[in-house]
Amino acid sequence: MSGTNGPGGTNLDPWYGQYAERTSGLAASEVRALFAVASRPEVVSLAGGMPYVTALPKDLIKASFERVLSTRGDVALQYGSGQGSPALRERILEVMAEEGIRASADDVVTTTGSQQAIDLVAKLFLDPGDVVLAEAPSYVGAIGVFRSYQARTVHVATDANGLVPEALREAIRAERSAGRTIKFLYTVPDFHNPAGVTLAAERRPEIVDICREAGVLIVEDNPYGLLWFENPPPPPLRTLNPEGVVYLGSFSKTLAPGFRVGWALAPHAVREKLVLAAESAILSPSAFSQLVVTEYLSTADWRGQIAIFRGVYQERRDAMLTGLGEHLPELSWTVPNGGFYVWVSLPPELDAKQMLPRAVSELVAYTPGTAFFADGSGADHLRLSFCHPTPDNIRLGIRRLAGVIGGELDLLSTFSGTGPLHAPRHDRRFSSPPPDIG
Ligand SMILES: Cc1ncc(COP(=O)(O)O)c(C=O)c1O
Repeated sequence: MSGTNGPGGTNLDPWYGQYAERTSGLAASEVRALFAVASRPEVVSLAGGMPYVTALPKDLIKASFERVLSTRGDVALQYGSGQGSPALRERILEVMAEEGIRASADDVVTTTGSQQAIDLVAKLFLDPGDVVLAEAPSYVGAIGVFRSYQARTVHVATDANGLVPEALREAIRAERSAGRTIKFLYTVPDFHNPAGVTLAAERRPEIVDICREAGVLIVEDNPYGLLWFENPPPPPLRTLNPEGVVYLGSFSKTLAPGFRVGWALAPHAVREKLVLAAESAILSPSAFSQLVVTEYLSTADWRGQIAIFRGVYQERRDAMLTGLGEHLPELSWTVPNGGFYVWVSLPPELDAKQMLPRAVSELVAYTPGTAFFADGSGADHLRLSFCHPTPDNIRLGIRRLAGVIGGELDLLSTFSGTGPLHAPRHDRRFSSPPPDIG
């Protein structure tokens, strides 16, 4: 193809004009290049949501690997069932029982991480132009999936107690009166990524009732539910309406993301279609990973290990909140009772995305709020992850971040002349009550 390109081609990609329309949604993250820099050891990264796998008992995992290979090697290395290993699906019931879910292994599909479960649900339900309702803000990986099916993510107001029921009612009404088709509500009720908030107990039946009455399926994504700190979250939405909820779970945060094992628990008819979609996507999830996870769950004290993770993350959460309180007392942020994330509100004159290069050059990284809105809004917020750095590094990172924010504000005040830097502002996304102030 020297020198010539196909129709619509460029010198860099001769196939440029030939990709499917839906791939226009497959934009590389604008901050990906910066994150490559941010992974250098001298940078304190409060950006990624990487679990602290160092806290895992590697000897036990190694023993699980070895036992799987020596006792079930031929099964582990073979294709498996599209729905996933029956033995693992039984174990998954035990994990979900910790949260109060009672179900049948027949309604569980194991997937390649819960990310694939999100993709499969989207593939089953979304036509171009369909609406997905989701919290404002919402998990970036889900927004990307919905975009790739050319659906519209409509954000619903969220406050310190999670999704606001009245806002959900209003969004359903508004979308329907505009003639649009709502396919499901995608929600992360426990220790939300990125907002850090948990849907309050009294709101759960209300959210379920709104969706039931409106005929809107709920996709409940719950990878963090067992990683609570002070007290466990209220029972999942799935417990309130098993026929109206597709529940997604994952071993990525309670064990290790490297296995890439997650699952969907779905009403029977949806489950049948999920298996067909999974088979067409990957034939079967990794038999090897599933067997190792099953072996680990059968032989290790996995509940004890989750308790260890809780302790590790709680200490880090505390380090982050203390650091914020000491170094950035003029800002506000959410106070998570579990999970990995704190959502920080910036003064409205700051733009978290524009500020990121400066932060990285000052050796601290975060994720700008814009990543978590389908329309790229959210520049006046940022997400801080406390899961991976040590408490000392978290404190160092927050000190550096305070220096960056202070420097930006000084710069702005130099160029804008007078006026208070921290004028009272109305927070659009956390209406009432405001996020807990640390
Ligand atoms: C809310 C949420 N859902 C799904 C995922 C994907 O997890 P998995 O590793 O199970 O694919 C993540 C990962 O960070 C997440 O935060």
